[in-house]
Amino acid sequence: NKGNYEHYMQKEIHEQPESLKTTMRGRLIRGGSCKAKTVLLGGLKDHFKTIRRSRRIVFIGCGTSYNAALAARPILEELSGVPVTMEIASDLLDRQGPIYREDTAVFVSQSGETADTLQALEYALENGALCVGITNTVGSAIARHTHCGVHINAGAEIGVASTKAYTSQIVVMAMLALAIGGDTISSQTRREAIIDGLFDLPNKVREVLNLDQEMKDLAKLLVAEQSLLVFGRGYNYATALEGALKVKEVALMHSEGILAGEMKHGPLALVDENLPIIVIATRDSCFSKQQSVIQQLHARKGRVIVMCSKGEAVSVCPGGLGRVIEVPHVEDCLQPVINVVPLQLLAYHLTVLRGYNVDQPRNLAKSVTTQ
Ligand code: UD1
Ligand code: M6R
Repeated sequence: NKGNYEHYMQKEIHEQPESLKTTMRGRLIRGGSCKAKTVLLGGLKDHFKTIRRSRRIVFIGCGTSYNAALAARPILEELSGVPVTMEIASDLLDRQGPIYREDTAVFVSQSGETADTLQALEYALENGALCVGITNTVGSAIARHTHCGVHINAGAEIGVASTKAYTSQIVVMAMLALAIGGDTISSQTRREAIIDGLFDLPNKVREVLNLDQEMKDLAKLLVAEQSLLVFGRGYNYATALEGALKVKEVALMHSEGILAGEMKHGPLALVDENLPIIVIATRDSCFSKQQSVIQQLHARKGRVIVMCSKGEAVSVCPGGLGRVIEVPHVEDCLQPVINVVPLQLLAYHLTVLRGYNVDQPRNLAKSVTTQ
């Protein structure tokens, strides 16, 4: 049931304030004035000791689910102190890459039925790792075959392009980082800021959804382009990959997410006055590096569109050069949840304007159950 929306993808994008609330329901505890703020993940409570002692945490997934894990990686590394590595399921299988008994392998999948992810799970089970699932589908193969896990509870996702599952996956993995991380005095302020940020996140997502018309206008501007680049780094490298995946998957426009730190190692050669480039430069520890990326793109007459924190247009666009997308500022590790929303909206509007099928892009299936 699409309700008042024309497409499931549109409905699912606009549903995110509610789906994120459901994801967090019963799992975030604010406590009284002197009680600590904590996270409860019922499905993992008997396994945290093992996870904390593991030699590394390996995230495994495909497509958008892989991108969600990539977005959560920095906060998991910061709070847990355990090294976190990333594997695309098919690549792990192609290489028969090393997985050890001392590893915690985390399988991220909306459907819980993706063939490559499921096969990587069988492989990790054979190798003796602790296998944790993060899935949206109760009773799915991945939920059943993992030792333990967390359901993201985002509600059924119908559109082939994953939107609300992505933001709920990131939130679950941020909660996982909080739950694994020790309760040390030194990290207490940070932890509390993240928990407060999580409580407020649905409101901030509602706020960023107000950019709908602005993204429709941007889509009109970009509708006939051949290609769109998205530059990100740090917490928002994943946002660049995910924004580009949405654009190519539904709008059938070539798009690439690029790690901004790699710009001078190749992508800079593509820059001219025609190719549109979205640069994600919201306020975090990478901000000044992104400012310098923007300057260098302008120096080569690049067609730059900057995503920045609200009120910061002047510091990212000196002299009013280029277009800006201003988004609400949240705790750095939660910013990917906000920043992906305008890109989801852009991909949606580009698809409608280009006249393609929004909910069923050509050649794709919602759940890839064959290899
Ligand atoms: C559970 C109930 C929820 C109830 C809550 C009350 C289910 C599915 N969930 O939620 O309805 O409101 O208790 O406290 O009955 N699991 C895996 N692999 C996965 C995902 C989950 O093994 O990929 C396992 C978990 O380890 C857990 C069980 O499935 O044993 C349920 O997980 P989850 O729904 O996340 O647990 P709760 O949030 O505690
Ligand atoms: O169900 P899964 O999360 O395992 O699916 C993984 C990918 O097939 C999926 O995310 C795909 O990339 C989406 N169509 C992206 O929107």
